[in-house]
Amino acid sequence: MATGDSPDEGSASRYNPPMHSTTAPPLVRCRAEGLDTIDADMLCAPVFLHGDAPDADDDGHNLGPLDLALGGALRRARASGECTGKLHERFLTDVIDTTWRTRRVLLVGAGPRDRYDTAVARAVAATAGMAARERAVTRLVVWCPPRCQAPGITQAVVEGVLLGAFRDTRFKTRDTGTPPLRELTVALNGSVEQQDQTDAERGAIVAECSNLARELANEPGNLFTPRVFADRAIELVNGPRTTVEILDEAAIASQGMGLLQGVAQGSDEPPRVIVMRYEPEDAVPGPVLALVGKGVTFDTGGISIKPAAAMDLMKRDMAGGAAVLCAMRAIGQLAPPIRVIGIVPAAENMPDGRAIRPGDVLTAANGMSVEVLNTDAEGRLLLADALTLAQRLGATHLVDIATLTGAVVIALGHHASGLVGVPPAWVDTVRSAADATGEPVWPLPALDAYATQLKSETADLANIGGRAAGAVTAAMFLKAFSGGLPWAHLDIAGTAWYEEASPSHPKGASGVGVRMLTELA
Ligand code: BES
Ligand code: MN
Ligand code: ZN
Repeated sequence: MATGDSPDEGSASRYNPPMHSTTAPPLVRCRAEGLDTIDADMLCAPVFLHGDAPDADDDGHNLGPLDLALGGALRRARASGECTGKLHERFLTDVIDTTWRTRRVLLVGAGPRDRYDTAVARAVAATAGMAARERAVTRLVVWCPPRCQAPGITQAVVEGVLLGAFRDTRFKTRDTGTPPLRELTVALNGSVEQQDQTDAERGAIVAECSNLARELANEPGNLFTPRVFADRAIELVNGPRTTVEILDEAAIASQGMGLLQGVAQGSDEPPRVIVMRYEPEDAVPGPVLALVGKGVTFDTGGISIKPAAAMDLMKRDMAGGAAVLCAMRAIGQLAPPIRVIGIVPAAENMPDGRAIRPGDVLTAANGMSVEVLNTDAEGRLLLADALTLAQRLGATHLVDIATLTGAVVIALGHHASGLVGVPPAWVDTVRSAADATGEPVWPLPALDAYATQLKSETADLANIGGRAAGAVTAAMFLKAFSGGLPWAHLDIAGTAWYEEASPSHPKGASGVGVRMLTELA
């Protein structure tokens, strides 16, 4: 049953109405007619490094017929060095052939011919999506030339375009920028098969859900509280095969989730636990996958308060929870034959007269005692209780995803999420799913020796393990609550946010996790 808080209940009346996504996802379709017949504002095509394909035209795949419509502009740009095919390079030109309905063409550099795969296709398409958005193009065609058509490419192209065209202007009231994309056509060759249409739909679902996760993570802490998070889950995830249940303070207490309560007690905002269940009729018997995402809607550090610089970015500390929520939405739409439970423990970490102090001892839902030596190591606390809840709800395989440690940013930077887990076969399964979706992860060791750093003088376990290997000791803390089940932990502290815009993505929340978790299911 879906239960939530009415907006005028209790202190919720202090808040502005929740900010919803204002843009409907574009219409996405595949076509195989002549390019001249497709009516759009702009056509994009990939172009490979010059001289890379001696057996084809010098564009790497026969773009000659297209170049006729361009009046030879591509050939001239090749010759002058304006269009080299370098990854993400853009060459925009007009269509000369007056019988064409689309009047502009953007060629996007796709790098070396022999390195073209789904990841490159997605990145190139993202550049096309960004260019479309910049140029107020609302109807875009992306052409997959014959030599680019391969399994998975259509899905990657759709994902790339929609991710690249994403802009979050919800909080701008004056300069709202260019209009969103309304129509995306993937132009194929020969004929459109059912598989192509299915691929395009998959890409649209996964990208739309990633963009929703970006929007959730971009929302500021004053507007996006645990209760708002819960309302969003009901709104976005509830569906024919998926139910949403919200645990309020009373339900959290009756589950004995003392670690979550401890984190939340310094805030005026009450915690929530979002429980999403996807139960298809054709589910394979046996496995129940649990996805657990950190939902700290703002992390001040609590009494172990963070420095002021860049604390604003701690509104993103619920990106793992957003990834789980939006992956559950995607899973509900894609309908894989496996049962999945999504759990988001949501709380705000604040300093206050009632906040937990360093040295406090809390009792976890599984009965273990935890000494809180640093109140800023709060994510592992609420995730630990959520992992216990996942086991009570029948999970057989656990994955958690969290902006958990600054240490993982030191270890891996911004280009891969940290992965820790047991047994190795389960870790490999998670890693393959992540790699396949272009959301790279990199393993860190789950050696028992690291767990000795979490010894407490007073309680069963301390919540910090010193400076050394901080990303691993945080994971080892969670492992203590995994009940011996296959468990994998994804630390997305370095990947949940793009510090800068790039040729394939705007600045801001990345939506990382949605694609890999959906693929895993
Ligand atoms: N939410 C932070 C981790 C984080 C840091 C996310 C930077 C994104 C960017 C987490 O709750 C935290 O504060 N971790 C501490 C743990 C420490 C006290 C053991 C950290 O990493 O400093
Ligand atoms: Mn913290
Ligand atoms: Zn945190």
